Amino acid sequence: MNPPYYPVSDFGPMMKGMVIGGLGIVHVFLAMFAIGGGLLMCYFQWLAQTGRSPNARRFVDGYFKALVLISFVVGAVTGVAMWFVSIQVSPRTIGMMVEEFHWVWGIEWTFFSLEITAGYCFYRCSARLPDRDRLLLLGIYSAASWFSLFWINGILTWQLTPGDWSRTREVWSGFFNPGFLPSLLFRTVTAMTVASLAACVVINTMADLDRAARKALINKAAHFLFPMAAMPFLSAWYFGTMPEDSRRMVFGGSIVMTLFMGLATGASLLIGLYAGFALLLKRLYINGATATLLVALSFAATAGGEFVREGVRKPYTVREALYSTSVAPEEVTRLRAEGCVARDPYPLRDAANYPNDQVRLGAKVFRFHCNVCHTMDGANALRHLAGDWTPVQRRMNIAQLQRTKTFMPPFSGTPEELEALVRLIEWATAGRPREWPVSTDREDWPEGRRRIRAWLDEAGVAPGFLKPGERR
Ligand code: HEC
Repeated sequence: MNPPYYPVSDFGPMMKGMVIGGLGIVHVFLAMFAIGGGLLMCYFQWLAQTGRSPNARRFVDGYFKALVLISFVVGAVTGVAMWFVSIQVSPRTIGMMVEEFHWVWGIEWTFFSLEITAGYCFYRCSARLPDRDRLLLLGIYSAASWFSLFWINGILTWQLTPGDWSRTREVWSGFFNPGFLPSLLFRTVTAMTVASLAACVVINTMADLDRAARKALINKAAHFLFPMAAMPFLSAWYFGTMPEDSRRMVFGGSIVMTLFMGLATGASLLIGLYAGFALLLKRLYINGATATLLVALSFAATAGGEFVREGVRKPYTVREALYSTSVAPEEVTRLRAEGCVARDPYPLRDAANYPNDQVRLGAKVFRFHCNVCHTMDGANALRHLAGDWTPVQRRMNIAQLQRTKTFMPPFSGTPEELEALVRLIEWATAGRPREWPVSTDREDWPEGRRRIRAWLDEAGVAPGFLKPGERR
């Protein structure tokens, strides 16, 4: 089978992974707010109608407005944007996710529609409804939003820990994979935390309540911070389910991953400490500025966590089934013989700017094989990473790409394609001169070609985290 080729989009100096990652982080954070917010409002509605908190009902109405505005509008827009960007960045991955989990997506969207409908009914009618019906609507709203997390969580965790699916290709073994439960519980706790902190911001805007009344509400909202105590345990469980090479990246193997993990842990720890001492033990008042700062910290924690979750999947987008380059592992050998862009029908946008056909070929190889994680001059730029290498080093390290960094996939092209890529990097590093010699015309090329082929063969076609000859 050939890898399918799709029209390509270019995001300039921004790495494609960064574009989708940045958008994803905002979207996930808003989704967490929506889910936790639903649960929190059920709690407050219950407090109100059982006479446990005199101002709880007012809070529900105020909070719901913020929730609707932010999560319905910005959440929905970023959700659509996620699809729009991901089909540009990695159409084959999205295709696979849709194909494997067609009905699961359908179920997820059904719950999402239910969530929107219940939320809208509450928005329009809650002022006129008796308490019992208000609680019912909020209950439907929050159950539906939690279940949309439930369904999507199975698909997202499948990408990293597909479990028995790798063998059976059976939808439920992929869905209820090893990462499913710890991730679901962890996200539920995160959602409750975000909702609780956002509540402290909203309560501070209720200017017509006196400080004592606001404090009473804040102390109630802080109850949703208790589950944070389970976070260390849940994240240890989640890490335990991760493939070993991914775990290694988090604990030092990739300093970027390690630092982001540190950011997520540090930010969560700060929130946890503040919640534990100030809100729960001392029952302090928390003003709007502090509450906003805590929400910002929870955003940083979410951002770090999501970044790591997406990052440690490398070199795959679907573990052992699809590399980040949209090449399936079983296709590598053939692409090394036939070429990875030999059948790529899409022209270069700026073909006339390159000095010769070899560099043009290099640009196509770069687009196919590197561009999802690298740019030429911007973020994670190849010019910076390999521009100062010696020519031999460039050839060898790219030929043995999966060993240069185990989170890169094996190189899947011919020696000519590899040489063209090397020449593209050299040309870009030299400042893109108009004239540039072609290297495959030179009489030492047959020898160069032989060495590249030998390096490719030595590295093999298995991912780099396996030892040479080791099989899975
Ligand atoms: C799955 C994502 C991914 C793909 C695909 C990928 N890379 Fe990388 N590559 C990375 C990451 C992440 C780094 C680490 C950057 C760092 O350490 O700062 C990296 C590092 C490198 C480095 C520096 C290695 C070192 O030891 O300093 C080179 C050179 C490189 N990549 C070349 C390439 C080339 C050429 C391609 C395409 C044939 C490619 N990469 C495809 C993710 C990828």
